Amino acid sequence: MKSEKFSPDQLRRIEQLRQLAKEKNAVILAHYYTRPEIQEAADFTGDSLALSEKAAQTDADIILFAGVHFMAETAKILSPDKKVLLPDPAAGCSLADSCEASAFAKFLERYPGYTVVSYVNTSVGVKALTDICCTSSNAVDVIRSLPSDAKIVFAPDRNLGNYIRGVTGRDMVVWDGACGVHEEFSLEKLLQLKKEHPAAKVVVHPECRAYIVEVADFVGSTAAILDYCGRSGADEFIVVTESGILAEMKKRYPGKTFIPAPPDDETCGCNNCKYMKMVTLENICTCLENESPEIVLDEEVRRRAERSILNMINIK
Ligand code: 13P
Ligand code: SF4
Repeated sequence: MKSEKFSPDQLRRIEQLRQLAKEKNAVILAHYYTRPEIQEAADFTGDSLALSEKAAQTDADIILFAGVHFMAETAKILSPDKKVLLPDPAAGCSLADSCEASAFAKFLERYPGYTVVSYVNTSVGVKALTDICCTSSNAVDVIRSLPSDAKIVFAPDRNLGNYIRGVTGRDMVVWDGACGVHEEFSLEKLLQLKKEHPAAKVVVHPECRAYIVEVADFVGSTAAILDYCGRSGADEFIVVTESGILAEMKKRYPGKTFIPAPPDDETCGCNNCKYMKMVTLENICTCLENESPEIVLDEEVRRRAERSILNMINIK
């Protein structure tokens, strides 16, 4: 049972897209933060870890990435012989942009002998400087896979980095980057919502600030939050992450209630990732028809970046 209602025009475009994908042997991968109609059109929806694993395994000729630039780039790093398409190349990520590769290389000069762990929300250039990647799903496992006396540089998200340092107690230097969406949630408004909904569980993405994470009943990646909402006995949840995830929550658990937490300034719409919303049914159809824009990477940089992602995938 789908909970979202789509217009006849949207349903027609979804059908057209599905047909085109079949003709071209293309797979459409979508992140949970994309528009509901994009998730509906996709072959597979997931969090950033599941999407990168899917991209590594697929036997399709074309990977059409409904997400942001670093996700499509990760797919290309893992599947260099496939055509990887991103409908709008301007679909970036404020977190990935907060860590530019040349600045990061300079930063690393201060930490010789450190193991470099980077969140996948980074450019191919940063991944090429990284020993092992992680996502919010597996960050704790990745850190724990390293020798207990390892000195670690973690980039680029200060909130996730500080959270993991707290959980693992490891020796970590954390790059000072952040996601513009997850940093905007208001503690005051969240506490007010908790008062209004005392039975609701608060689910939080670890990219949020520490004082938000502190009031959480559950902290995890988008996929982990979705699982928690299913197995928890609660019927009501206050959701402190990008609001696109509500589409999948309502679809999976139609009997439960999901309340999006508001950002500080409710007029800014900042609990919406503007980059994820750049993928539309119109541009995704045009992109697949034209097989463009395509992700193209320098082979030498790609190869170095690939090692850091494979090191992550292989820890399991
Ligand atoms: P996930 O790893 O939970 O999919 O999160 C990706 C992301 O961009 C969070 O802002
Ligand atoms: Fe990047 Fe934040 Fe958007 Fe995720 S929600 S893609 S981290 S800007």
